[in-house]
Amino acid sequence: MLIKKELASKMMEQVGNELGASLQYLAIAVYFEQEAFSNTADFFYKQSAEEREHAMKLLKYVVETGGEVQIPAVPAPTASIKSPEDAFRTSLNWEVEVTAQINGLMDLAKEQKDYLAQNFLNWFVEEQLEEVTTMEKYLLIVRKLTDRNIYMLENIISHSG
Ligand SMILES: [Fe+2]
Ligand SMILES: [Fe+2]
Repeated sequence: MLIKKELASKMMEQVGNELGASLQYLAIAVYFEQEAFSNTADFFYKQSAEEREHAMKLLKYVVETGGEVQIPAVPAPTASIKSPEDAFRTSLNWEVEVTAQINGLMDLAKEQKDYLAQNFLNWFVEEQLEEVTTMEKYLLIVRKLTDRNIYMLENIISHSG
């Protein structure tokens, strides 16, 4: 096998984290849907689908490299969202946490001199830059909007893919 046992098991743990993120974003999407923010809901449904893709990417890598696969249990989403700002703050915190998890995987791949895994993980490192900056941007925007004009978020989010 091309992958070492410890890295395979850490990657499978990350599969669980990504699936967990997918469920968190699903819960946030529903919050916005219920508050009649359709475009913002769509944005989070899309985020949720992307997180599932991340999980699949990691899973397939472990399978391809001959690692042991045990599908992890995924906790139910914990986020009880109280406001749009809360939603983006929670999302940003989550993405910062995921970035640290990805860096941890990269550290292990470097320690093991696993160049294939480093190459593979590079994609995730770059993806996290995008994820963190996107959430930071929207959090900043939401903080500038007041309660009276918060629905402007709907226009802003629909115009920036
Ligand atoms: Fe992700
Ligand atoms: Fe993400």
